[in-house]
Amino acid sequence: MFQKGREDPGLNHSKNKKQRQKGDKEPLNIFPGNWDVMTPSLLRSYELWFPQSWDPVALDWSQLDGGNFDRKEAISQAYWLAKLALFEKSGIGAFGLAALQAGRHNMEDPTKKFLAAVTFDECRHDEVCRRACSRLCPGFPYTFRPSNDFEERAVRNINALYENGRRYWSAFEEAWEKYPLELIFSSFFFAEIGAQLIFGQVADGSGLKVYRDSFKNITRDESRHLTGTLAMLERLAASMDDKQKMMITRQMKHGFIYLSPLLFKPVGDFWDLPRDFYESDSKFEELASRSGLGVPSLEQRSKAWLNAIEKHRKRLESMGIGVPRIEEIGLEGVDVSVKKGDAIITSPL
Ligand SMILES: [Fe+2]
Ligand SMILES: [Fe+2]
Repeated sequence: MFQKGREDPGLNHSKNKKQRQKGDKEPLNIFPGNWDVMTPSLLRSYELWFPQSWDPVALDWSQLDGGNFDRKEAISQAYWLAKLALFEKSGIGAFGLAALQAGRHNMEDPTKKFLAAVTFDECRHDEVCRRACSRLCPGFPYTFRPSNDFEERAVRNINALYENGRRYWSAFEEAWEKYPLELIFSSFFFAEIGAQLIFGQVADGSGLKVYRDSFKNITRDESRHLTGTLAMLERLAASMDDKQKMMITRQMKHGFIYLSPLLFKPVGDFWDLPRDFYESDSKFEELASRSGLGVPSLEQRSKAWLNAIEKHRKRLESMGIGVPRIEEIGLEGVDVSVKKGDAIITSPL
């Protein structure tokens, strides 16, 4: 097991003199901080944020005016974006909290700034969801009043997802007390693999320009997140033993389960949803896809997930990190059991 607060030669190398003298009992503090750069590849990922920055306000949102679609199409598009927003919102929280923890633990400077930049990106992605929903179906999902069964099922599904999101978030906050910081930081990359692929598919498959532009930009953000989180992983994994690396494999399986409603279909070990959730979910997705929002089919998502993980297998295995077996998508690997009721500790998109 990791030892909490143990010094890492890279990301967490530079406890200041006062902290070292007084030991770990003194409450953690972001001051005096440091400007150390121990992982140049992480710094480069952070630096790319500046030239790759984009403005969601400038996109042509009028394409999504409710009058351009029939009511069911508008609701279905808003439904998928509200589903996506669950993962963007958990991204804002998780990366924001991680940025703060990186400061408290006096990690190297690019770690703090990279995580803060990712937090901002997640706000931008959530903003895309908010803007789209407010045009398509004002108030959806928070203050929207459904007027028929179709609309009721849309709101019910989203509420059920968000209720599960609450459970995820409580466990994520508790994780900082239970698990070593290194484990949480080294597991961020997995969701980014999934994010890069789904948003690329949505950008390619969307008939509406506002979606193509949004998701092309979001995909570029996600590629940067993936590069940076892999740099963090590589640095941290260099000083981990096999048991610690096995915990990362387990986190990858958790990541698959958490992201399953978006990237596959909800996996029951964690998700507690209405019995007919998936039946109506797939109808909303199909309608959203037919009306201009390029949501990939279950089969396309499943194949893409498998390929995306396979693409990184070699690099992960060269770090001594095994890929978990995920039978749902046909991924071969290490058997990891996740029991019903286990807390899912992973990072979001
Ligand atoms: Fe995101
Ligand atoms: Fe991301």
